Amino acid sequence: MLELRNVNAFYGRAQVLFDISLNVGEGECVALLGRNGAGKTTTLLSTMNLVTHSGEILFKGSPLSGRQPFDIAKVGVGFVPDSRRIFPTLSVEENLNLGKKAGHDGQAKWSIDRVYEVFPKLRQIAGRDGGNLSGGEQQMLSIARALMGNPEIVMLDEPTEGLAPVIVEDLIEIIATLKRERMTVLLVEQNVSAALSLAERCYIYDHGYITGEKTSREIAGDDSLKRELLGV
Ligand SMILES: Nc1ncnc2c1ncn2[C@@H]1O[C@H](COP(=O)(O)OP(=O)(O)O)[C@@H](O)[C@H]1O
Ligand SMILES: [Mg+2]
Repeated sequence: MLELRNVNAFYGRAQVLFDISLNVGEGECVALLGRNGAGKTTTLLSTMNLVTHSGEILFKGSPLSGRQPFDIAKVGVGFVPDSRRIFPTLSVEENLNLGKKAGHDGQAKWSIDRVYEVFPKLRQIAGRDGGNLSGGEQQMLSIARALMGNPEIVMLDEPTEGLAPVIVEDLIEIIATLKRERMTVLLVEQNVSAALSLAERCYIYDHGYITGEKTSREIAGDDSLKRELLGV
């Protein structure tokens, strides 16, 4: 569904991604793991064409390069940035409705009612201002808003970052629900155990390179690799 081939990315003259190649199949959940600064966020930003890059990025076989970010969203790539980007003066429901659009085939699987079924907490706080939410509520709203656009893949950048353990559990359950709904997910996580519980496959990043591709089962059984990934 999503394929990156030999992607290099740059901030000004500084190259931060080197020859990144990865793929995410339909219905798969794939995680990007690696230390802070390794290039995971930049990979997602390159896919949305928000940073300068070279190489090929294909969505369902068609190149995304050269398209505007809103156009990339329109063809079915949902992106939940680590900044969450909630509109503080709009209510939860207004934030959700801003994300609304039909899918590529004109279908709207994710209506507001369907979103509230998966995120019952958002229904309870539908009228509250976006600026008045806890970190966990903001994260749920940010994911839910992306779903309102009926994407075919969602890219989640560190959804559990900075959240209390019970909220992390809720978020893992929500992402697991998306997987059961056959959503394709590209997940960036520093929380290795969360990533391993959700993803089938992981790419391991180090200093802008992908240094390995492993199944979550392989990583779970490799204590020294796990220690290395946790050593942020
Ligand atoms: N806006 C920016 N300008 C310059 N360098 C940046 C910018 N954003 C990130 N970087 C650098 O790019 C590298 C990769 O960062 P990033 O993709 O955010 O890593 P990760 O998400 O894996 O923590 C790091 O060295 C980081 O310092
Ligand atoms: Mg990051």
